Amino acid sequence: MTTQDLRIPLMRPLLPKADLLVPYLRKIDQTRWYSNFGPMVDAFEARLATMLGLSQETLVCVASGTVGLTLAIKAFEPKPDAYCVIPSWTFAASAHAVRWAQMRPWFVDVDESTWMLTPDIVLRALDEIDGPVGAVMAVSAFGAPVDVTGWDAFRQETGIPVIIDAAAAFDGAQFAAAPQVISLHATKVLGIGEGALIGSRDTTLSARMRALSNFGFVSRREAELAGTNAKISEYAAAVGMAALDRWPETRSAFALATVRYQDAFAGVEAVTMAPAISEQHVRSTFNIRLLGRRAETVMPLLAEQGIGSRQWWGQGCHKMPAFQEMPRSALPVTEALGESVIGLPVSQDISLAEICDVRDAVANALIR
Ligand SMILES: Cc1ncc(COP(=O)(O)O)c(C=O)c1O
Repeated sequence: MTTQDLRIPLMRPLLPKADLLVPYLRKIDQTRWYSNFGPMVDAFEARLATMLGLSQETLVCVASGTVGLTLAIKAFEPKPDAYCVIPSWTFAASAHAVRWAQMRPWFVDVDESTWMLTPDIVLRALDEIDGPVGAVMAVSAFGAPVDVTGWDAFRQETGIPVIIDAAAAFDGAQFAAAPQVISLHATKVLGIGEGALIGSRDTTLSARMRALSNFGFVSRREAELAGTNAKISEYAAAVGMAALDRWPETRSAFALATVRYQDAFAGVEAVTMAPAISEQHVRSTFNIRLLGRRAETVMPLLAEQGIGSRQWWGQGCHKMPAFQEMPRSALPVTEALGESVIGLPVSQDISLAEICDVRDAVANALIR
């Protein structure tokens, strides 16, 4: 069965329709300013900053979450080939960013109850890592809020910089000094197509990240840092402005799907829901953990019933060909999650009947 044949696909992303974009596109026609921190990007960043409780100087929009993570690491100027401690339980982008920033990932496990890295896990790993540790990357598990103040305290205690991959954690995000990268990819709750924001409370660091996104130009048109081009265009910002105009509706739609999923799965045995699912922090995925069954045996049964599903983070990064040679600590929790976590269909317009259908399909698959 192909994805098109599925009755309930994994995702049906919904970005602002053309009519909502037109007023912003007309403004671009008027200004004839298409990139390089133009008025649309400026307005988009200002709106995002207000919404997230940041000052505009500490919110930087970039071309993708992956490149945002790379720049956030580079902003700390880590020694080449130093280790970046990173959970294996994340999307490939986190580990790619570490490598593109010339660091070596050292994979560690996550906490069983939150599915996330903790300062204690890193502190324990430091004893076995056989080289310099230049950074740590903590990752929000599918939109769960990250303990940003705890990570700032870790940085103060150890001196090791922390970068937070909060790709799916736009809603209700809290910020501290550590740079936090939130993706605006089409599959995220605030989607603009491709793009991301990096928020932090460290003005100097934000200025560096902005300069890194613009060829390393700091105060003049001459490369002072080893930068790249990671800017977003005025058109991407126009989509962002229209997406913010309809954010209240988008948010309510995801909140409704969340509540309905929580109710639907409350009585399903042999399944637990991903940690910290809450209508306070809406997300665009719904992950469950199968107790006593492997994801790979259940997903084909869901597909037979016309239901899309995906192991969003596969079996963990350490199992992926690009990273399997990378050093690691023991990963028992990641191994268990990699075998048992499945993402189920979510979209802004998923109906209650569809959610009940998904729940029934999972329950049926589990008794076969
Ligand atoms: C945990 C995590 N990190 C990083 C990314 C990369 O974000 P982007 O697709 O904007 O590059 C994603 C994307 O889904 C992600 O889930």
